[in-house]
Amino acid sequence: MQKVSAPAEADDTSGTSPKNEIRSPNNELRDSPFMRACRREPVTFTPVWLMRQAGRYMSEYRELRRRVSFLDLCKTPQLAAEVTVHAAERLGVDAAIIFADILLIIEPMGLDLEFAQGDGPAIRNPVRSTADIERLREVDDVAALDFVFEAIRLTRSALRPDLPLIGFSGAPFTLASYMIEGGGSKNYVHTKVRMRTDPGAWHAMMSLISRGLVKYLNAQIAAGAQAVQLFDSWVGCLDPDDYREYVLPHTRHVIQNISPGTPVLHFGTGTAALLELMREAGGDVIGLDWRVRLDQGWQRVGHDVAVMGNLDPVTLFTAPEQIRLEARRILDYAAGRPGHIFNLGHGILPETPVENVIALVEAVHEMSQS
Ligand code: CP3
Repeated sequence: MQKVSAPAEADDTSGTSPKNEIRSPNNELRDSPFMRACRREPVTFTPVWLMRQAGRYMSEYRELRRRVSFLDLCKTPQLAAEVTVHAAERLGVDAAIIFADILLIIEPMGLDLEFAQGDGPAIRNPVRSTADIERLREVDDVAALDFVFEAIRLTRSALRPDLPLIGFSGAPFTLASYMIEGGGSKNYVHTKVRMRTDPGAWHAMMSLISRGLVKYLNAQIAAGAQAVQLFDSWVGCLDPDDYREYVLPHTRHVIQNISPGTPVLHFGTGTAALLELMREAGGDVIGLDWRVRLDQGWQRVGHDVAVMGNLDPVTLFTAPEQIRLEARRILDYAAGRPGHIFNLGHGILPETPVENVIALVEAVHEMSQS
């Protein structure tokens, strides 16, 4: 992987070139297909990026991981930046996403986060009682997450100047579910019981998480992210009434307090019953998983918002011709309407062949060219 060098000092202090002739990196980013699609402006081709585009399906990543643990990788800005830039360049996608994890913000709240080999996240001190909730720390100062902001600064200065960088975190519900369950979960028993039997403590916890998220995401933007994504990966376990009462106000608080002008991508899975409510919670771009047809999902969230999605990640295990057909189907559902960002309906799976991912990106670019 290419080495990433420290950001150069701001140049052009000479004052010799007239300001209106400078095509600053900001304009290049603003006019990029990804940013234009976030604003539902017409584009010359459909922008594409893929959730989990940097990860174990890439041999270079696995090589690096033999030497460095996942959390150490997240906490070493130089390496996180290298992984981010490498994945975006190798795939030829239209946006990079900072290498990090949705759960990093729970550490400064007082939770002990670990990633056991092959087992996913594990929290040794999950939040199980009202007293546990009262002990949670407010993320007043996001300095504990400086490594993320530094990775963003390094990545921004190493990326092609017209390639947007996406910052992200877990959304309040998905973070709360990890904090309460202590890891992944099948039925979310502890989370749902806490939510329904102790709503006061639940709302206090969700508010604390949401306040921290506002600071964390805005600091990612200040460090150089052009857009931010909220991953509400597990919110699909809720029914619409629970979502409205226990989740929507908190997600809305986060989204409403993101620095103005920065697009927010709002993503969840298993959300077919929740799409209208997710839209109500907010976001410039609503992520659709593959279980809904893109045209129908877009109709439901409304054409006054952009959508992202929604190829089944398993399609990438088929042959390039098949991948092309499936991508064509999704582009046909989008029907050239401004505001479609092509993505998978969920993250790339670990065993996915890299050449198929590259074939998908090329196919989307070629077939959507106008
Ligand atoms: O998209 C990217 O390339 C940026 C990096 C990124 C990671 N995780 C790196 C990662 C992003 C955007 C995430 C998001 C994330 N993390 C989600 C939401 C996406 C989704 O799938 O809904 C979730 C639920 C997590 C929590 C998490 N992190 C789990 C459940 C796991 C274990 C399962 C798994 O896929 O390994 C992780 C670990 C993780 N996060 C890895 C990577 C590359 C694998 C760690 C390793 O190298 O072993």
